[in-house]
Amino acid sequence: MVGRVKKAVEYILEKIEEKPIIGLILGSGLGYIADKIENKKEIKYEDIPYFPNSTVSGHEGKLIIGNLEGIPVIALKGRFHAYEGHKLSKIIFPVYVMKELGVRGLILTNAAGGINRTFKPGDIVANTDFINFAINPLIGPNDEELGPRFPSMAKPIDKKWFERIKINCFENGIEIKEGTYIWMLGPTYETPAEIKMAANFGADLVGMSTVPEVIAANHTGIKVVSFSAVTNMAAGILPKPLNHKEVIEVADKIKDKFELVVKTSIKL
Ligand code: 6GU
Repeated sequence: MVGRVKKAVEYILEKIEEKPIIGLILGSGLGYIADKIENKKEIKYEDIPYFPNSTVSGHEGKLIIGNLEGIPVIALKGRFHAYEGHKLSKIIFPVYVMKELGVRGLILTNAAGGINRTFKPGDIVANTDFINFAINPLIGPNDEELGPRFPSMAKPIDKKWFERIKINCFENGIEIKEGTYIWMLGPTYETPAEIKMAANFGADLVGMSTVPEVIAANHTGIKVVSFSAVTNMAAGILPKPLNHKEVIEVADKIKDKFELVVKTSIKL
């Protein structure tokens, strides 16, 4: 993998003037934040050597490199999911590319289903811990140059970074809840019995992404913070699902708040 990472990085470095220090991986419906990046260079995934290609519609598939809040950032607009059929090594490839480019902190965002009954659609929930209920993306030979064979996952997110974000958001009137995110492979949503199981395991949120990138970042030594937009409640949690109008309202309401959370995270 190291050789391919270096080839991809070589290509990217030819196109940019300043090395990014913060990475952003933006979840479904949250890619608009990348459009706020200033002085940006866009590089299509398909043009980067060894970079995986996006298949899900609504995921555009490009790297956006520039400045956000005055900080040099690299954003992945359109992430890779295991349910698309990508090899696990491909899903986490961009994280190692970011590391090789000099990225020190990674901000992850995702759209998730709420399991915890104190959550409601429209909430922003920091992922403070994770349950990998799908598969481990590091199976296979280990590249010691990238990270250790048996990485610790005892501190999956950077608590100090997150605490600073939380205080700053609170001062700006944005409430951030906290919860454990469980990764389900998808592409089916869960049954009510599966959600009951996940709740008993201690999960507060469910989604089909994020955990592979958290694992890769911990493997290779990048600090992580991660945030979910609760778009809906998981199966069996609500007596009746949201109607279309409510879903649109939720998506709109989250947008501005989420942008502020991401911008705050970059500065801190
Ligand atoms: Cl309910 N489940 C999963 N796996 N992913 C989701 C979701 C639910 N809601 C948004 N993303």
